[in-house]
Parts: sequence; C-alpha cells; structure tokens
Amino acid sequence: MRDARIERLIAAMSLEEKAGQLSIFSDPARIDGPPVNPGLVAQSMDTVKREIAAGRMTGLYNGIGVAAGRELQRVAVEQGPHKIPLIFAGDVIHGMKTTFPVPLGEAASFDPELARRTARAAAVEASAKGIHWIFAPMVDVARDQRWGRVVEGAGEDSWLGAQFAAARVRGFQGEDLTAEDCVLACPKHFAGYGAVLGGMDYNTADIPETTLRETHLPPFKAAFDAGALSTMASFNDVAGVPSTGNRYLLTDILRGEWGYKGLVVSDYTSDEEMILHGFAADGADAAAKAINAGCDISMQSGLYNMHLPALVRSGKVALATVDTAVRRVLRVKQALGLFDNPYRSLDLAREQRDVRLPQAIALAREAAGKSIVLLKNEGDLLPLATSTNVALIGPCVSDKGDMPGPWASFPDFASCVTPEEGFRAALAPGAALRVARGADYEAPLAGGIEAAVAAAKASDVVVLVIGESARMSGEAQARVEVTIPEPQRVLAEAVAATGKPIVVLLRHGRALALSGAVRAAPAILATWFLGSETGHAMADIVFGAVAPQGRLPVSFPQASGQEPFFYDHRTTGRPQLGADPTWKARYREVTNDALYPFGHGLGYATVRYSSTAVSAATLAGDGAILVSATVTNTGKRRLHEVAQLYMHDKVASLTQPVRALKGIRHLDLDPGQSARVAFRLTRADLAFVHRDHRSFAEPGAFDVWVAPSSIAGVPATVMLA
Ligand code: IFM
Repeated sequence: MRDARIERLIAAMSLEEKAGQLSIFSDPARIDGPPVNPGLVAQSMDTVKREIAAGRMTGLYNGIGVAAGRELQRVAVEQGPHKIPLIFAGDVIHGMKTTFPVPLGEAASFDPELARRTARAAAVEASAKGIHWIFAPMVDVARDQRWGRVVEGAGEDSWLGAQFAAARVRGFQGEDLTAEDCVLACPKHFAGYGAVLGGMDYNTADIPETTLRETHLPPFKAAFDAGALSTMASFNDVAGVPSTGNRYLLTDILRGEWGYKGLVVSDYTSDEEMILHGFAADGADAAAKAINAGCDISMQSGLYNMHLPALVRSGKVALATVDTAVRRVLRVKQALGLFDNPYRSLDLAREQRDVRLPQAIALAREAAGKSIVLLKNEGDLLPLATSTNVALIGPCVSDKGDMPGPWASFPDFASCVTPEEGFRAALAPGAALRVARGADYEAPLAGGIEAAVAAAKASDVVVLVIGESARMSGEAQARVEVTIPEPQRVLAEAVAATGKPIVVLLRHGRALALSGAVRAAPAILATWFLGSETGHAMADIVFGAVAPQGRLPVSFPQASGQEPFFYDHRTTGRPQLGADPTWKARYREVTNDALYPFGHGLGYATVRYSSTAVSAATLAGDGAILVSATVTNTGKRRLHEVAQLYMHDKVASLTQPVRALKGIRHLDLDPGQSARVAFRLTRADLAFVHRDHRSFAEPGAFDVWVAPSSIAGVPATVMLA
C-alpha cells in the first residue's frame, strides 16, 4: 500500500532531489574522532551542510556523534528542500564502544541467542551514538580461509549462518524499529562474496546457481524473514555480472522470488567499479546499470547525483525506476520513525548514559568466554590452578590497542582488558606472572626471544598468545598461507625448547593451519578476537572459572593448500576411503582430514555419545521423526556440550554434501550425568535445491547423526517415503 505522505513527497521532488535521496557519503568527522585537523573538519562540515540543504544526500555513514548529528539533522529538516530527515549509518560489526567477539568468534559459541543479545547491546550503544542504520550483519558464507573477511561472518556453514543471520537482525532491529534504541540492520554483501575465487578479496565468484541458492543465499533469506529492511550489494561479480548491476540478483530473486520490501545500497563505490569490471562504459552507464538492476542507493561514488537526472531525461532510466527507489528509501526512513521524530537516537543525555553499561560489559565477558574453543587438552593440562606460576608470552599480551580486533570502527580502547590484566586479576596471591612480548606479529623483536625464554624457564607453564594481528584479517587481507607468521613460529620453537608445558591461545580471524611447536603444544584454544573483555575471558577459561563451550564454525586445515576446505563438500567418485590412497581425490602431502573439523570443541570433561536412534524407520508425508542419542559426561568436571544433528542424502539426482548440519542443542551435564537429546527431523531438513531452483527432498535413504562434531558419531538410517 502506498503511503500518502511519501507519494506527495515524490510528486513534489525534482529529479536532482530524488538523486540526492539515493546518495550516501561517509562523514567527514568520525564519532568521537580525534580532531586531527579541526579546521579541515569544520570546513568539510560546512560543505556537508550545504549539500544537505541542497538535498544532495540521503544520509551519512561512519561518523557524526550526537551533537554533530543533531546539527546536520536540523539543517535537513529546516533547510532541506522537502525537510526529509537524514539517516545516519555505521559499520558496527561487533559492538560499538563495548566490543564483542568478532562475528566468526561469536559463531563459535554455536549459540544464536547469544548473538541476538550482543546485537541488541550493540544497537543500544550505536543508537546512543546517533546511528540509525548498521551495516551488519555480514552473512556471507565463507568457504575459503584465505579470504580476509571470513572474520566478519558466521563461518563456512549455511545452516548455522542462517541461524546467526536471523538472530543478529532480531537483535539489531529489536521489537519496534521506531524505538530510540533499535537500528536498521543491513545483511551484506548480496551476493556470493564469500565465494571469491582463491579467497582473494573483490575477486570474481564463480558459483553454480544450485550452490548459490543452496549455500550462499539462505542466510540472506533468513535475515529478510527476520525483518531486515536493507541489504548491501557485494563488490564481486557472480557468473560475470557485478552484483551492483545484477538485475537477476537484486530484482528477480530478491524482490521477485522473495518479496523483499526493503532497500539495496551499493558497497563503497561498487557502482563506479563496474567500469573497471569492464561491465559499464563510464559513470553514466554504471549509474544506469545499477539503478536499473535494483540498487537503490549509491554509496560514496556520487554517480547517482551526477547522472540520474540526465539519464531519466534521455530515457535511459525510467522515471518510475527512480521513483520506486526513492519510495523504498523513504519507506525505510518512515519505518525508523524519522519523519515523526527526526531527532530520534540523537539524544545528548542518552549518548552519555547508554554507553559502556555494566550489563553490556558483563555480556561482552560472557560472549567472549563462550566463543573460545578448546581444540586440544593433552594430559588435562587445563584448567590451570590459579596458583600456577605463568609465563604469558606474545605480541599482544599487554596491548590494549590490539584487543578489539578487525572492523571495530568505534571502540573504547582504554577500557579493553588485555591478557596480562585478565591473568593478573585471576591468579591467586603469590602466583608469579611473567610477561614477555617475544616477537611482533610479523617481525622479530630485538631481544624478544631471550626475554620470552627467560620468562618461560622461570615459570611452571607457558601461555603463548599468538596468531594474527587485527590488521591481518578483515577486508582486503587475503592470505596465501593461513599460517602463524614466521617470527612467532620461531618464538614458539624457542619457548618449546625450554621443555615447559605450553598452552597456546590463538588469536585469529580465520581457521589456521598449525605446524611445529604450536601444533605440538599439549593445549590449544581458538580465541579469535574477543573484544573489550579479552583478558578476563581468556583467564576465565584457562583457570576453569568458565567451562569451554565453543565449537568450530570453520574447519582448520592441515595445510593452506587444502583451501577451499569445508566439511560439507560434495561426494566424489573417488573419496579417500580405505587403505589404498592411490587414484583417489586427495593431495600427495596430507590426508583429506581436517586438523580440527567443523563442529569440534572439547570441554574439561570427556563425553560419550550413544549410537544415533530414530523414532521411526520411515518419514512419510508432512510428519516428523525424532533423531536422538544419549549424551554422557564421562569426566570429573561439569560439561557444557553442544550436540549436533547432521544428515546425508545417500542417493540423489545431484551429488550431495557428505554431511550437512541441521540442528544444535546445548546441554549442561554434571560428572556422570546422562541426557537424551532429540531433534525433530522433517522433510524440509532433507531437501536440496534442484536444477530448476526448486527445493524439495527426494525419496530414499538418509544417514542421520547426533554427534559432537562433523566427523564423529554413529549414524542411523531413515527412509523418506
Ligand atoms: O559496510 C562496508 C562494507 O562492508 C565494505 N565497504 C565499505 C562499507 C561501508 O563502510
């Protein structure tokens, strides 16, 4: 239904003003940004005000702050041609002032409800800082760990990605989008960005359409079903067509098939980049291709301002196309309540009051703890007694600036808790903590090894915090080798030579191929980038105050050359089964096994799963069967277990994944305690996308597992009638 107020505006707007409503620019002043050159900022703010008064922008992103935001909004609603309020956006990827674990780390919790809660807390802080629209969640399914942006999403699995996508949207948008503390979500990047060839950022994505629909699109669909009213076109092309000019993606699938009612924004100059793609001849052609494809807002290039009016006048773009885009943008502003309350989320008192709230800080610690994955714990080295004399070694152990991790646009560095601070707070009085950097992330440090070795020799246990710096993952940070950089490997070898037991705490934005002393260490934990409460959360797990619950959302390869490497690969005709490895789908140097598989994660107690059982041998019609197993804590400590449901279609008209995740359940078990865990399996769980793009299940036999990881468990077989 058309809204009369919006239609009146569209009727009254000039073509130039319409183009302005479809253009967004980054802000000249950062939120709380250091006044590097106050004169320049003031000058550019004056320019921005003139542009707003002339109706040449719909909003700004990655800047502002409440005082400046109020002033710019005042200009828009008092001096702008139609008094249309601005929308303020920001890349709030894993928290604002309080930073939560990077999205990949948080996905390791296997707890979408946790992600809803942290997204809610991030929305509270972002909206307190004057932001209405968050360029998140990133819902790209990442199949190749060389890609730097793996860190921003929920990992390699589409089903898990869909759960997290929906949860994060619900958290950001809350119950009522007009509420002061709710923000518009922007699931991104539509589409196929997680499949860039060779993991190289911005590269082409060569994806069969069945895979696009089976693997890459479901998290977007889940995000829109959860109410997301915006999405961002991706930089890459899919099958030769850049997403920003891809009518099939942006209009036929998104709006035609899915009935999506929200807006599409380009990525940063991605409309203009269609010229370099060789898909558009010049700026005018790029603008025409983008708007005609269904890209409503141009980010940063200014192409819509420059060309849309002339394109409409020359008939290359229909007026109705522009009006439709403007209508979508105005409707989103209306959905946010901006027409009725342009100063929503621009409250000076709230800016002070609602940031770094105690409950947000407590949640950051909880989320960080739940994101840590215990990969290995030989001889029950962990948890350590708090009386242990510890050598804490690594490039970041005392570095607050390194704590928030990649894509933390607005963090409060000063309040970040370093590993050193976390360990000092956790150790018992009298226990010694010796701290040494040892090496920089990617370069040796003069005297670093000697200091680290001395600290190790004087201690009972070494805790080695190593891996990638925040700058080594994220956008444009593709890597050829997904390994720990050489200077840190040298450090690890030197420390290992002391003979002291080593606990490795990995910092990383992707799965890593581990080698040498790191791989051989008796205890290894994946800790990703944990955000504000890093040090506390690490200490909580290492000293056993919190039971590890994390499970890997990405497969750790044995070697970088295995990438792209993901657990739910399709079956081949020559799988590497049996004793004879020749003439098999394999590499010469390593087996096809993961170093640590998807779904893997240990607790401080051992666990036993019974064989999988099914409540009926046959699933018929629209019914359901229960797939279950008994899970027993066979250890001596309390256990947080994450039971996982997998299935495999044994014979189908298209080759199928060897296993696919379909459910997760969290269980807390005391020593000796057993629990029966049951999943409801329906026909929909057994469906796959066919060549005609329809999704349905084919009759026949399926293996189903209730298991602790993607490679474990004893399956049952069920027939689909
Ligand atoms: O939101 C981001 C996107 O993920 C990458 N390019 C820039 C955008 C805006 O900052």
